[in-house]
Amino acid sequence: MNSFAKRTVAAIVATTVLTFSLSALMSSPAALAFQSVKSLYQSKCAVCHGNDGAANTAKGKELKVRSFRSEEFKKMTDAKAMEVLMKGKGKMEGYEKTIGKEKLEQLLAYCRELSNK
Ligand code: HEC
Repeated sequence: MNSFAKRTVAAIVATTVLTFSLSALMSSPAALAFQSVKSLYQSKCAVCHGNDGAANTAKGKELKVRSFRSEEFKKMTDAKAMEVLMKGKGKMEGYEKTIGKEKLEQLLAYCRELSNK
């Protein structure tokens, strides 16, 4: 290999290593703080609740998830909703350990935002 080829290979290897370590970092709980609430919602919640909160997804329909625009959710207190988020309810798992209270409060605010759309 000439030196240009060597440098190119080195650059590719470095980029690959960096990409892998970044993606490992981004999926650890500690890195959640760096993720925006919207992207967190889209990666953890949207499968069931849908990107727009209407639960118009295959999984949402299967589990009969209601829309965040429903009266039930609008009437639900934040305390009650936080309990669902922390401890889980029915087919939804609790996220206290994996996401943490602080981030869940932000996620709830995001759900309320979707609810008003
Ligand atoms: C596996 C599907 C699934 C995933 C993933 C999921 N949920 Fe749910 N969620 C549900 C179901 C089902 C309910 C209704 C539970 C019940 O009342 O029995 C629910 C209820 C809720 C509620 C209470 C409002 C209501 O209408 O009952 C909130 C708020 C909520 N989810 C937010 C979230 C957030 C935020 C995430 C991501 C961190 C998330 N959910 C992930 C299925 C899911």
